[in-house]
Amino acid sequence: MKLYTHVDRVERELGARGFGLDDPLSIETLFDLDQLHYHGPAAVRAAIDRLGLVEGDRVIDVGSGLGGPARLLAAEGGCRVTAIELQPDLNQLAADLTRRTGLEEQIEHHCADFLTIEQPGQHFDALVSWLTFLHIPDRAALLERCFGCLRPGGSILVEDFYARPGLGPEHRAMLENEVYCRALPSWERYRDQIETAGFERIEMEDMSAAWGRFVRDRLDEFLERKAQYVAIHGHDAFQALAHFYAVMVELFQSDGLGGLRWCARRPDATPT
Ligand SMILES: C[S@@+](CC[C@H](N)C(=O)[O-])C[C@H]1O[C@@H](n2cnc3c(N)ncnc32)[C@H](O)[C@@H]1O
Repeated sequence: MKLYTHVDRVERELGARGFGLDDPLSIETLFDLDQLHYHGPAAVRAAIDRLGLVEGDRVIDVGSGLGGPARLLAAEGGCRVTAIELQPDLNQLAADLTRRTGLEEQIEHHCADFLTIEQPGQHFDALVSWLTFLHIPDRAALLERCFGCLRPGGSILVEDFYARPGLGPEHRAMLENEVYCRALPSWERYRDQIETAGFERIEMEDMSAAWGRFVRDRLDEFLERKAQYVAIHGHDAFQALAHFYAVMVELFQSDGLGGLRWCARRPDATPT
């Protein structure tokens, strides 16, 4: 299943900005291209703060996409990052961009399904994930795996969708067909699932209003840049992305789709 078509877009966009295929890059150059979630670098910086990440922390990023969050965690947080991405072409480009930004000593890119990857054991100080859990219907298995790869006392921060009470069949179908999101828990059910997986100190923040504004502004800005976008990427690519951005506006404007940022912690080991 082809979820995203960002690879061509990044390569064309960098070409249009005058970068050759192997030129070195700063992470800032990539910020408008490699952060496939809402509020870009600000969301990742908020996570560094919220989790209290410090230099040398071992962090796993689940559904790492083009590696934008992983590079920011490495460059600004000083973390050692394991980035797990399902799609080979995204993962390959992510690894390439990491090398071009000189961060390859701090980031390991793995192309794998997080649900079936060989578990590293209680290895990580923190797990982060932006807009990936919504693609994985089996939350119980997913959360169990997240818990299992954290050291006792390790923490988790996830940005995800949830189902608000008004989520009707039309918007459920839209989520499934356009966003590849087949199942969403309610707020309460989500909290139960986090608890059942064994996490403590659960904090959940409703992002629906902020993300609703973000997707509306994103669509407006994109439509304003139409001529420039079409010149670089072509008309079909413009239409496809404008359609996707409009779908997200409709979903957040409905009473159905909610946005959620949650944090929690794996309890300390109990002394034996
Ligand atoms: C919306 S993108 C977000 C990418 C990245 N987290 C970011 O914010 O820039 C979601 C990513 O999750 C990946 N993904 C979905 N299911 C996955 C799984 N089971 N294991 C690993 N990655 C997965 C997709 O391929 C996609 O690249």
